[in-house]
Amino acid sequence: MYNIRKLTEDLTWIGGIDRKIQKFENVYKLNSGMNYNSYFLDCGATVLLDTVDKEVADIFYENLKYCLAGRALDYVVVHHMEPDHSATLAQVLDANKDAKVIVNAKTLQFISQFFPDKDYSERAVVVKDGDELDLGTHKFKYVFAPMVHWPEVMLSFDETEGTLFSADAFGSYGAINGSIFADGKDFEKDLLNLHEHRRQVRHADNCCHQQGITARHQDDLPFAFLRMAQRHR
Ligand SMILES: [Fe+2]
Repeated sequence: MYNIRKLTEDLTWIGGIDRKIQKFENVYKLNSGMNYNSYFLDCGATVLLDTVDKEVADIFYENLKYCLAGRALDYVVVHHMEPDHSATLAQVLDANKDAKVIVNAKTLQFISQFFPDKDYSERAVVVKDGDELDLGTHKFKYVFAPMVHWPEVMLSFDETEGTLFSADAFGSYGAINGSIFADGKDFEKDLLNLHEHRRQVRHADNCCHQQGITARHQDDLPFAFLRMAQRHR
């Protein structure tokens, strides 16, 4: 059974919703679940923009299968490697052997660290800040946004339809309640959630330092968070 929402003629939301989760990444307390956003673009080429957390993998795969309708997947765009965006990336790439993965150089490094037994470098289309790519009938521009909120984050802008795929730039907690478009959201409530998220991230960062968990390099900060989360399980 699939659960999708068509956003434009070419673009479809194919993510998943987890209403049972109590803590995001086993660290940050949640009150109303989590939403994992992934998008499918049908523009001559078939393009997947981000994947989802493993908790909603089954519905996500069903959604992707429905949108592909028997066609091959041509591209997977990775905006951010945090597991809520990318935990199912390897499964998608392994199931779609001809798909190319659009990344920046730092993301490619992260992929090799998250999936150490995989090597997707031969399938990578590595973009630089400001690069443009034509994907079928849509033209994309890639903009790097490091530390929003990991070092590898990039945004992509679909110049054809004017859609910004913003990684976590406007991220917040909470499951959507049927509203994907901005005018269906309670911004005051969502912004408060976002402030709370940032407060918790600062707290986690402080805990890392207090416990002597230090990153070997700035790029390793996510792994320092991961190690701290494992200690608190
Ligand atoms: Fe993130």
